[in-house]
This record gives sequence, C-alpha cells and structure tokens, in this order.
Amino acid sequence: MKVFPIAEGIQMVSVNATGFLFEGMWDLPYGVSINSYVVGKEEVALIDGICGWDHTKEGLDTFLKEAGIKLEDIKHVVLNHMEPDHTEWISAFLELYTDFDFYCSKPASLLLEHFFGKDDRIKVVADGDTLELASGHKLTFVSAPGVHWPDTMMTFEETTKTLFTCDNFGSFGSLESLTDEGCEEKDLEFLETQQQRYYSNVLASFSTQVGRGVQKTRELNPAIIAPGHGLAWKKDVNRIMDDYDRYVQYSKGIAKEEVLVLWGSMYGMSGKMVQYIEEILEREGMTHKAIPVNTTDLGTIIQHAWSATGIIVVAPTYEFNLFPPMSYTVEEMGTKRVQGRVGFYTGSFGWSGGGKKHFAEIIERKKMNWDLVEGYEFKGTPKEEDKRVVEEKVLEVIKKVRTCIAEQ
Ligand code: FEO
Repeated sequence: MKVFPIAEGIQMVSVNATGFLFEGMWDLPYGVSINSYVVGKEEVALIDGICGWDHTKEGLDTFLKEAGIKLEDIKHVVLNHMEPDHTEWISAFLELYTDFDFYCSKPASLLLEHFFGKDDRIKVVADGDTLELASGHKLTFVSAPGVHWPDTMMTFEETTKTLFTCDNFGSFGSLESLTDEGCEEKDLEFLETQQQRYYSNVLASFSTQVGRGVQKTRELNPAIIAPGHGLAWKKDVNRIMDDYDRYVQYSKGIAKEEVLVLWGSMYGMSGKMVQYIEEILEREGMTHKAIPVNTTDLGTIIQHAWSATGIIVVAPTYEFNLFPPMSYTVEEMGTKRVQGRVGFYTGSFGWSGGGKKHFAEIIERKKMNWDLVEGYEFKGTPKEEDKRVVEEKVLEVIKKVRTCIAEQ
C-alpha cells in the first residue's frame, strides 16, 4: 500500500494487485492498481475505502500512521460504487470501528444492505448533494449510473477541483508513480494499452453510459481526475478524457486502421490460410495482428478487437458448427459490443461445412451489425483456387476498412 498526497489535504491510497483474475475471469498480465482516497484531517472522508488493507488492527494502525490521521477522525465513508474490488474492506472495518456514516447513491444503498446487512449509517445522496468537511473541502456527489454498475456516482471536491471517478477513467496495469506527473511518455504509452484493455474488458458493454460520464466530467472541468484504478491525472487531464472518448467512439464501429485476424485450427489447415492472409495484409501495408483464440485469454482478444476496424475470423467447421473456441470468442465479442466492424469468415471443413453459417448467425443474433464480406469455406487444406478467392475477400476487407477510416 502506498499513501501519496495529490492535492491540498487529499491523499491517494493505492495498492498494486497481481496474481488473480479480475472479476474472477480477466487475466491481468501487468496487474491492476486499486485506489482510494483520504480527504481532510480532523473530519476525514474516506472515498472508496482503504485499498490494500490486510484487515488486521495492526494493518489499520499502519495505514492511519502513514495517512497522518486517527481512527476517530474518520467520520464519513463515500462509496462511489459497490463492486467488491472497492468495498471488500467494509466488513472487517465495521468490526473495528463504527462511528461514521456511509454516503452513496440509492441503488448502492440497496446493495450495501445485501452485501453487509441493514445499516442505519447509510445516507443516500442524489446528484448535486454536498458534504462540507471541517478542513474546508466541499464534496459534491455526481451521479454516473451505468459506469460500470447502475449504482455508480463520482465525487467532486470543489476547492481542489479533484474528481474521484471510481471505475470511470480506470486502467489495468500496476503503478510505480501514482500520478501522470511522475511518468515519462513511454510509461504513459504503455499504460494506454492497459487502459484500453481495462475499458474493453470491464466497461465496453456500458459505452453509452461511459460516454455520458466523460461528458459530465468535461462540464465539471476538473484539475485532477482521481480514478479507482490507474493513474491520478494532474498534468494532463485532457489526455485521459480524450482516450476515453476514443474508446467510446470505437463502440460505434470505426476504430483504428487495423485488421485483427482471429484464428483457430485443429490440424493446421485453417492455420495455413492464416499465414497467407497475413502475407496479403503485410503486402498491402495494413496494420494487423493475428491471435490464436484457443491459446489466448479472452481479455487479450477483446483488448485488440476493440481498436480493430476489420476483423477476419479463420477457423474450421467442428461438428457442423464453428470451431467452439471461436464461436465462444465471437459470442463474447457480441456481449462486449464489438459492433459495426468490417468482418470476414473463412475456414476449412472435412465432411460438411457449417462454420460460415454459424458465424453469420452469431453476428446476427448478437446484433453486432458487422459489414460482412461473403464468407468462404474450403475443403481440407487450402488450394491455389481457395487462396485466390480468399485474397479477393481480404482485399475487399482492406478496402472497406480504409473507406471507413477515410469517411469518418
Ligand atoms: Fe472497479 Fe466496477 O469496480
């Protein structure tokens, strides 16, 4: 756990968490930071808890010492969002100390009771409600439903113009410096890849609501954006807002001039076609990446799908249907709203086809609204004639992607 001042009377508490699956399912190749905040001194408001606390009395004493506060100073706990990555500490804390009030949205209050039992400490706040502290800090609650759950709100501290955004503007990746002021450009560029991973894995399904949250943030004109995951932004708040606007835009279809080749192969026959497709993309100067779906975690796949305008799917027919690791992947891309892409399916079959039809059925059923180039199934290993057909289709994908980018 690190405790670090980010503004007058405001401290960031952050822990780098590794070695687990986020939400029980998302791989974290570079970990994730979980942040909370301490506002004020004699009358303290904790925002989103005490990150990284080990739930012991000794650990709590260490935190209090590092933050320079006493336990009895804690008068208010603001819960911007009830997901347990921000609230798991509550039960242990209630066993040690109870002389404080919770501030949260109405939906959060209902969940708080379900998670931790009925509690008369809960104060429900609405958009625009305020809480003034003895230190002069003034907290205004800003509703942000759907970022990432219906209960979410943000909290704006007016004297320092610090906006505590919880999941909004979050990122995967462990932190060395807690703010963008301590980062070099190369660090920020790397962390951007983890922002996109976080957005696509966790927030993508709620892109409309996130877009509203970004707009609301711009209207508040914060000097500091202090999220629940990732860097606190002080030097360049516009950078993270622009990145998030871009991710929201990608949900509408036109992303980067990139083609993602998602592939799976049972005995290497569809795999041979992948090599050929990559050669065409390389020759045509199209930025591309090929990912095998049966040996790659879903989080990585969705991360790269999010910024690709074109997605080529290569996988065989398996028992009259699309190769199961691929059908799962396409279904999950539909759930995560990877929509409006230029798409093309090809793959091999032995006794009967079926992959092409199953692929198109998933795209339709999940309302993914892809612009599909007519799919192509080939028998056994790809022959010269199959390659000629696929080359035409890949060139059509490239042309459509470039047209999309040019016309946006
Ligand atoms: Fe970081 Fe939706 O919790």
